[in-house]
Amino acid sequence: KRPAGAPDPQLARPVTKVGVVGAGLMASQLALLFARQLKVPVVMTDIDQARVDKGVGYVHAEVDKLLAKKRISADAANRTKALVTGSAAKAAFADADFVIEAVFEELSVKKQVFAEVEAVVSENCILATNTSSLSVTEMAADLLHPERVVGFHFFNPVAVMPLLEIVRAPKTSDEVLSTAFVLGKALKKTTVLVQDAAAFVVNRVLLRLMGEVANAFDEGTPADVADNALKPMGLPMTPFTLLAMVGIPVAQHVTESLHAAFGERFRVSANQQRLIDSGITSLWVADDAGRQVIP
Ligand code: CAA
Repeated sequence: KRPAGAPDPQLARPVTKVGVVGAGLMASQLALLFARQLKVPVVMTDIDQARVDKGVGYVHAEVDKLLAKKRISADAANRTKALVTGSAAKAAFADADFVIEAVFEELSVKKQVFAEVEAVVSENCILATNTSSLSVTEMAADLLHPERVVGFHFFNPVAVMPLLEIVRAPKTSDEVLSTAFVLGKALKKTTVLVQDAAAFVVNRVLLRLMGEVANAFDEGTPADVADNALKPMGLPMTPFTLLAMVGIPVAQHVTESLHAAFGERFRVSANQQRLIDSGITSLWVADDAGRQVIP
């Protein structure tokens, strides 16, 4: 017998149109995944048309790369491109049944986005958040229908990372949770249910690892030595390369959420703070000899 509250495929609702809030790198990767795997229309929004166009352009360019690698047929490539459109107005979500946000990692911004989306969507539309670290419960708190909110956390690069963390908030309905699991499977991801705790599971572990490498650097081990020391341990990427891919601002926000929740175990390292203070957003650059150094 299914435990009470466990996802039940029979409760899942159909998803026939998807909205993506944001047209940045993560949002664009999500738009591509949904269009390619679900084969339903996906509309992206952002704060202005230029950002929207950039996001849709990214999706089209990624589809062209798949076509060039013969991973997708010409027909499928054209169909996928046609499914992804953009609009600067959230009214484009009016007939969506699943809207996922992947905007700036700041609670007030995400709450504002959800309030604006709730004002235009139907009562049954699910609101999902791709937050890496913020409270899904708080994100739902001021909505008319908090039961429609679920955490749906993907990893970068979305096309290749198999895991999807699904987060149930106290008011998330059984229908919404069940739909999230069915959808995750349709997107060909490995779905896991995680608690609504700061940074969920994976980032909590990753940020601790990345933090300790940064501490070794702060304490005097050369950056590339501290970083590469872990490579033979079977990691697909060294911790600083991963940090560069995730981006310093995102890592900073995740670390701050973890610090607020768990205290001294998590802290922005002195060197990371130095980079943040000087406005550097990417960690590694190649020096003249092609060796990667911290700017
Ligand atoms: N977008 C799409 N596809 C990509 C890609 C990208 N950005 N990067 C790599 N790929 C694809 C490649 O095209 C390649 O596909 P094909 O086999 O079809 O050609 C495949 O992935 C493997 O790539 P490579 O052979 O170039 O390189 P690799 O074997 O070293 O794999 C990697 C690359 C999958 C990114 C691997 O290094 C890896 O798993 N790294 C760890 C990534 C990770 O930990 N991500 C989590 C970050 S934390 C996060 O995202 C959460 C957060 O909330 C902050």
